[in-house]
Amino acid sequence: MKTDNFLRQRADRVWLTEAACDLEDFRVEVERTTQLSDYPHAASVEKNVLIYDASRVLKTAGTDDGRRAVLAEICEAFATGPGVIVLKQGFEDTGVIDAASRVFDEIINEQHRTNTGGGDHFAKPGANDRIWNSLEKHCLKDPENFAAYYGNALIALVSEAWLGPSYQMTAQVNRVNPGGAAQSAHRDYHLGFQASAVIEQFPAHVHRLSPVLTLQGAVAHCDMPLESGPTLFLPFSQTYVPGYLALKREEFRDYFDKNHVQLPLSKGDLVFFNPALFHAAGTNRSVDIKRVANLLQVSSAFGRAMETVNRERMSATLYPALKAMLVDGRLTDAQARNAIASCAEGYSFPTNLDRDPPLGGLAPKTQAQLMHEALAGRWEVDAFAAALAAQSEKKLS
Ligand SMILES: [Fe+2]
Repeated sequence: MKTDNFLRQRADRVWLTEAACDLEDFRVEVERTTQLSDYPHAASVEKNVLIYDASRVLKTAGTDDGRRAVLAEICEAFATGPGVIVLKQGFEDTGVIDAASRVFDEIINEQHRTNTGGGDHFAKPGANDRIWNSLEKHCLKDPENFAAYYGNALIALVSEAWLGPSYQMTAQVNRVNPGGAAQSAHRDYHLGFQASAVIEQFPAHVHRLSPVLTLQGAVAHCDMPLESGPTLFLPFSQTYVPGYLALKREEFRDYFDKNHVQLPLSKGDLVFFNPALFHAAGTNRSVDIKRVANLLQVSSAFGRAMETVNRERMSATLYPALKAMLVDGRLTDAQARNAIASCAEGYSFPTNLDRDPPLGGLAPKTQAQLMHEALAGRWEVDAFAAALAAQSEKKLS
């Protein structure tokens, strides 16, 4: 017969509680220094955050061995390292970003005119403008700009480094106007969006699972000096397993307030971080900077994304744009592949196995595969739209 002590220890291992979070344990995790020598593809370490030079990363990723090495490095930076990386000049051509910003401005103005659009769950209403599901809205409004924007090689590379292939892109624009207050420190989706009473019902391994189901990213749409309030981060805080519960406690929030770091960003920079990293958008103390970021939330093929996205409608809209841009050389095959990965459903399941059986493999054809097939065969737009609709229909129960 096992002792009561043994049973209690086991239960404490499996059932994490807000009450058991310990600031001293946490400090052991976060009071570490990022060593540049552990991340040889990075250009520097600033305030414990790894800074990469986008062009150097892409050059390294140009060979199979280089790609393997750089993806592994980024993966471990998120898992056991500081948990956050900045890719300087992730968009070399900021004209693509400016065009996307105009699309976002139009959508925000429309939201104001029609009194639609949601609030921000971590900030007071009115201080910020949000575009929920900016991914789909962007694609439907300007598919050519969407193709150029999500054709970005680094967004694809970092997403794959953390999640593997067939990830599901979602995006939300956040425009923090001057005077907009800071968010409260939080972790992100999945467990980051639950109350302690709910979080405590999930066994410890789910606390470890939640961070590998998504990746957080941001594209800087303007220069963001510190006074404009770029995101506050606490490096290494993603490694504290009970962190989803700890953030509900005052001493952890105080610790975040005293120890967070903040880096200025330039238009075109990309930031990616482990969704379990403690973070918060900063206060915009500037007089005239509307701080605009497109926040990427990339989900694992095996997870459920936070937002509903009509990927069939997006794919039907994007296809003619991709076809035209490939023909006249405005898009490379690699860029088209990246744009498709951010648009179409890349995973075969769930499906209706009566109507959509696996053919010549273990998994039925995906929406992304259909799109590749159509582009390779230069299908007519109508033929692709019909095939897309038929495929979606087949997957319904
Ligand atoms: Fe967040």
